[in-house]
Amino acid sequence: MVKINTCVFISGKGSNLKRLILNSNNYNFPIKIKLVVSNKKNAEGLRLAKKWSIPYLILNKNQSLSENKTLVKLKTYNINLILLSGYMRILSKKFIRLFGKSIINIHPSLLPKFKGLNTYERVLKNKETKTGCTVHFVNEKLDSGKIILKKFFYINEKDSVASLKKKTQILEYNAFSEAIIKVIK
Ligand code: GAR
Repeated sequence: MVKINTCVFISGKGSNLKRLILNSNNYNFPIKIKLVVSNKKNAEGLRLAKKWSIPYLILNKNQSLSENKTLVKLKTYNINLILLSGYMRILSKKFIRLFGKSIINIHPSLLPKFKGLNTYERVLKNKETKTGCTVHFVNEKLDSGKIILKKFFYINEKDSVASLKKKTQILEYNAFSEAIIKVIK
């Protein structure tokens, strides 16, 4: 099958990246991960890129310089899709415009509820009955692009920030890949 050349952006552990790499090794999964970008030089997820021999780029604190460098690499690797997989830096409007192709983000709440950071804390504080994750296209407004899919679970009284995170991330691993298939097929 013809696979879409994809770049995955991370900032941390990379557990979603791991699932994406494993799935992309499957002949029928429609992406090939050609590049990993991290804005944190110690991001644990970079180990996965090394393990699977995927080229990677580490960004520094100068956002504009970093984004320019990234755009050059995206061209070099002929990237047609960016996946934000726990990427904790907001992309500039200029970057989104200049890339000009699809960027997809995974967010740990049921958007449009709880955009931004500390979602689990706010979900508990707000006494929500359910939560989950959302996969959506990225536009120029934070966590506001067109929704591709959501997955949810019900919260119980024993739940904590840690348990919500665990349950949400289990949903994320399938949600991200399902959303990719939905968008590409
Ligand atoms: C994921 O749970 C993702 O939803 C979240 O970061 C985590 C990354 O985990 N993203 C955001 O909060 C984006 N605003 P991972 O590095 O283990 O995949």
